[in-house]
Amino acid sequence: MKTRITILSENLVGKLVGSGEHGFSAFIETDRGNYLFDTGSGHSIVPNSLILNKDLRSIQKIFLSHGHFDHTGGLPEVLKVKGKVDVQVHPNVFSDRIAVHKEDERETKRFVGIPYKKGYLESLGANFVLNTVFTEVEKGIFLTGEVPRKTGFEKPDPRLFTEIQGKTVQDTFPDDQSLILDSEKGLILILGCAHSGMINIIHHVMDKAGKETFHAILGGTHLDFLTPEQLEESIIFLKKTKIEKIGVSHCTGMRAACRLHQEFGDRLSYGCVGSVLEI
Ligand SMILES: [Fe+2]
Ligand SMILES: [Fe+2]
Repeated sequence: MKTRITILSENLVGKLVGSGEHGFSAFIETDRGNYLFDTGSGHSIVPNSLILNKDLRSIQKIFLSHGHFDHTGGLPEVLKVKGKVDVQVHPNVFSDRIAVHKEDERETKRFVGIPYKKGYLESLGANFVLNTVFTEVEKGIFLTGEVPRKTGFEKPDPRLFTEIQGKTVQDTFPDDQSLILDSEKGLILILGCAHSGMINIIHHVMDKAGKETFHAILGGTHLDFLTPEQLEESIIFLKKTKIEKIGVSHCTGMRAACRLHQEFGDRLSYGCVGSVLEI
């Protein structure tokens, strides 16, 4: 399967094109059709798609990695361009999400879930398709479904909560899904925010896909928001795994990206708006 993946929405702009925002979206072109993985937070996806010459009307399906606003907020803008389309998600994508920020004894809470009601998105053309387990969504294209938490060192982000029956509890992100493309050069794994833990996700993919060679791992790793110990443990695992290229974006952050570059050299790149991986 020939594949070209272009970063449409991302925190940074690396070329003289497009706008940055807090969010993530990747436009995927294959010889079997075009797809969209996440939609950013909504400010940049349509203008960036025009500048980068990626026709949102051509997408066959949208996949959402999880219910945070910075991955789902662009959905209405995309639907206004595309119209009717399948949007594949885990059923928990519509859970209420809260981020708690503490600074100098002061605590602020912010709603960070999907900013639109399901009915509104459906009125714009979204047909939600639900999955909870590892699923082949198109030939050679897979969604991870729920990811078992196996590593002891990957902990949930302590600032992120959800509301269940009126109670605020730690968010465990059952809806966190990643996308896998089975290319002739090996698996390509695209992460949203990796809230399940980047290494848990890699374990799950190797187990379910029955393959251990990755041509590329792209997207948000969330490593910047976690402990230095977790970053170092993750690097130990990544160095033992057959990964040709790592293209980090979004919630990876500068500190973790620089540390990964120390270890992986030219195999590590930063996936800014307009970055392309082509096979
Ligand atoms: Fe994110
Ligand atoms: Fe997130």
